[in-house]
Amino acid sequence: MIPQSFITDLLNRVDIVDVVGKYVQLKKGGANFMGLCPFHNEKSPSFTVSPTKQFYHCFGCGAHGTSIGFLIEYSGMGFIDAVKDLAQNVGMVVPDADDKIPPAQRAAHAAQSLALTEAMTLACDFYRGQLRGAANAIAYLKNRGLTGEVAARFGMGYAPAGWDNLRSVFPDYEALALVESGLVIDKVDEDGGNKKRYDRFRERIMFPIRNTKGQVIGFGGRVLDSGEPKYLNSPETPLFQKGFELYGLFEARQAIRDAGYVLVTEGYMDVVALAQLGFPQAVATLGTACTATHVQKLLRQTDTVVFSFDGDKAGRRAARRALEACLPLITDNKTVKFLFLPTEHDPDSFVRERGFEAFELEIHEAMPLSQFLLREVTAEHDLSEPEGRARAQFDAKPLLQSMLPSSLRLQIVRGLAGLTESTPAEIEGLFELAKPVSVVRRAPPRQGRPQPIGLELQILRMLVAHPPLCFGLDAAALEAFNSFGPESAERLAQLVGDGQALGPNGSFAALSQHLKSVSPEYDALIAEIASEPESDPEAGKLWLSGAVREIKLDALKQELNQLFSSGLTSDQIGVRFREITALQDQLRREAADAAPQR
Ligand code: UTP
Ligand code: MN
Repeated sequence: MIPQSFITDLLNRVDIVDVVGKYVQLKKGGANFMGLCPFHNEKSPSFTVSPTKQFYHCFGCGAHGTSIGFLIEYSGMGFIDAVKDLAQNVGMVVPDADDKIPPAQRAAHAAQSLALTEAMTLACDFYRGQLRGAANAIAYLKNRGLTGEVAARFGMGYAPAGWDNLRSVFPDYEALALVESGLVIDKVDEDGGNKKRYDRFRERIMFPIRNTKGQVIGFGGRVLDSGEPKYLNSPETPLFQKGFELYGLFEARQAIRDAGYVLVTEGYMDVVALAQLGFPQAVATLGTACTATHVQKLLRQTDTVVFSFDGDKAGRRAARRALEACLPLITDNKTVKFLFLPTEHDPDSFVRERGFEAFELEIHEAMPLSQFLLREVTAEHDLSEPEGRARAQFDAKPLLQSMLPSSLRLQIVRGLAGLTESTPAEIEGLFELAKPVSVVRRAPPRQGRPQPIGLELQILRMLVAHPPLCFGLDAAALEAFNSFGPESAERLAQLVGDGQALGPNGSFAALSQHLKSVSPEYDALIAEIASEPESDPEAGKLWLSGAVREIKLDALKQELNQLFSSGLTSDQIGVRFREITALQDQLRREAADAAPQR
């Protein structure tokens, strides 16, 4: 079984326009791409590919699906092969139960990665040798305040000018391993004929990227002057995936243990400079957002992670991503902190300008995760107003829901309760925190559930089109869906669970791929969404909350109508009557609050 989370990531990574474009000639037409449908005979194009939905749809024959679906339909591959094929194109490795790989294939794999590792090692040695004779590169490093010692520790090198220096290093410059490892680039002539091969890295300072075993798996290359791009990186290869690797982790491991924490920066140069200036416990993400895999790797080395970010907007965004990556992994024996440097600084420049002690103080005083989370959800809202406090709670909900039950979560709930004039119990209830999303069970899909109609159908359509909207539906909403009948309520609850399981980045493509794999129940709905122009998720959110309010009000009205014949004692009826009318009032107030201001 390939995990759903992998499929979601994969569909977020690949671009269906590229995938389909390999087989079908596509032309841009409005928001979509158009072409001749490969699934039926036609003379004028009715086949569309939507980059925003990551979905294809033919108005002629009704064929539709995701990138995965396209490969399956077009080339006749099985599901797993289609996933593997797509994953390979974007450098992702399909998680696989090891024992299911046939031995021959595993051996082939091993041989391939050995060839790649050997190529990387040879190239690394070559670049290091070249640095010794390159006066300009040495001058550059000296000018940036680096010693030969630290350069050697990180295996730094220099790729000289020239298009094919690696020809002198590899007996067979045409070997497959050279292009697979990303060391060279194959340029194919316009007519698809002659292939020309050349070195990827030229006239650059080379930073080898090592895995935790110390093997060189990739390179970052920096220009000496102000050329573009400033850093050129190895492409994603079978050895190297940016979302998994951290620059400097291999070199820093002992220092991390000694210091008791790891410092996560954003740049190669930060890591090397910090190592020289007294902070050898630094690592860097490789020009990508921090992923949960990064965090997992770090937490295996140490209990304390300190992220350093620039004080600017981009830094704040990166910090937010790091926060989201940490939340599902943090436990009470782990500490995560966020350090925000002044806007104009990165760690390298900060330490050079202000010195070792000033930076050490910054690290010491870095903001704890709990504080950063609370600041993130409250900063933009006016907490003196009920709406502001509600928005803060709304923003906090998905973050808290992604945490495991822990003391830290409770502390954050307490903090949020204090800031938003609620009690911790109210927040836990409202956010359904006692029941982690991940254990929501799915009942086996029923045969012959009644066809959804009317409002129910509209809600289903909205949730399938914009799965993150599922996070906006609370237990009371699911309860109220019972007014559509028990089977419909169950279907909605299942869908909400599925949508939430995709996480905050869940997409129509990922959810529909999943739904198709469990039952044909949603096929018609999916086809419909695929063929319509994309709807605005913000408007959908407003619509949905209005619809849910109406349903809740309806359910309360029904209950009220039957209350006096319910067989309760008159005291019980009195209590419930007051509860119901209070809930009705609250919902009507919410409705009034949500109505557009005039
Ligand atoms: P920065 O632009 O902040 O550079 O990129 P830096 O690390 O401070 O480098 P120096 O001090 O100018 O030499 C941060 C990181 O983003 C990635 C690299 O990983 C870099 O270390 N990056 C940046 C790229 O991959 N490509 C680029 O063109 C620029
Ligand atoms: Mn820098």
